Amino acid sequence: MEESYNVAELEKAYSEYVTDCESALRLTLARILNLQEAFSRLQDRNPLNSVTSRIKEFNSVIEKCKRKGYDINIDSIKENIRDIAGIRIITVFRDDVYEVAKQIKRVPGINIVTEKDYIKNPKSNGYSSLHLQVQIEIYSPIQGTSKLIPLEIQIRDKSMDLWASVEHIVKYKNDDPMPGVEERFQKMARILKEFADTAIELRDFSESQ
Ligand code: GTP
Ligand code: MG
Repeated sequence: MEESYNVAELEKAYSEYVTDCESALRLTLARILNLQEAFSRLQDRNPLNSVTSRIKEFNSVIEKCKRKGYDINIDSIKENIRDIAGIRIITVFRDDVYEVAKQIKRVPGINIVTEKDYIKNPKSNGYSSLHLQVQIEIYSPIQGTSKLIPLEIQIRDKSMDLWASVEHIVKYKNDDPMPGVEERFQKMARILKEFADTAIELRDFSESQ
């Protein structure tokens, strides 16, 4: 099918926008790493086990626009794709996800837009994670102006992250999935939930000693 937009022009506009997204990511990562450092000084167990970040590839953005039926131009991309800048925080224990979210909400400069709780309400396939859609103000010294850049923070425990990694590989590499695959993922999610609950019980017992 012939593309109705100029790919080279759009990719250039996207790469300019990515510069702003990278600024937002740097600022936010610094704030979250400060949080992680403060936790490590204040308590024995750090709820922030690992922090990673990524910028969405141009091709993934185009694929997402097509999948969601968004117009394919730079304004539409800026308006509709809210996870071009993404941060993922992994905890060891499942309840630490909420502790981390609580602390992030207090950080000045991280403005919460929406919160999606796929832990309380997992997706039908079993996906569970806490997503914070936030906005970060970045200042351009060249233009002398500020703008708000959207960013997605995903917070989940190691077991949910394991599930999501496996599901991502299987989903994206398998156009013709084996029968019953959805049920198997649901089952793995249940097993991991039991694991996570037991881990919390054992931790609480050991901390009460
Ligand atoms: P996407 O189009 O998938 O980005 O969804 P969305 O922007 O409408 O929001 P949602 O909160 O549903 O998902 C945001 C992100 O969460 C995705 O880009 C994935 O990184 C992750 N995610 C959501 N659902 C799933 C899932 O079923 N499996 C896996 N592996 N990851 C998921
Ligand atoms: Mg998304």
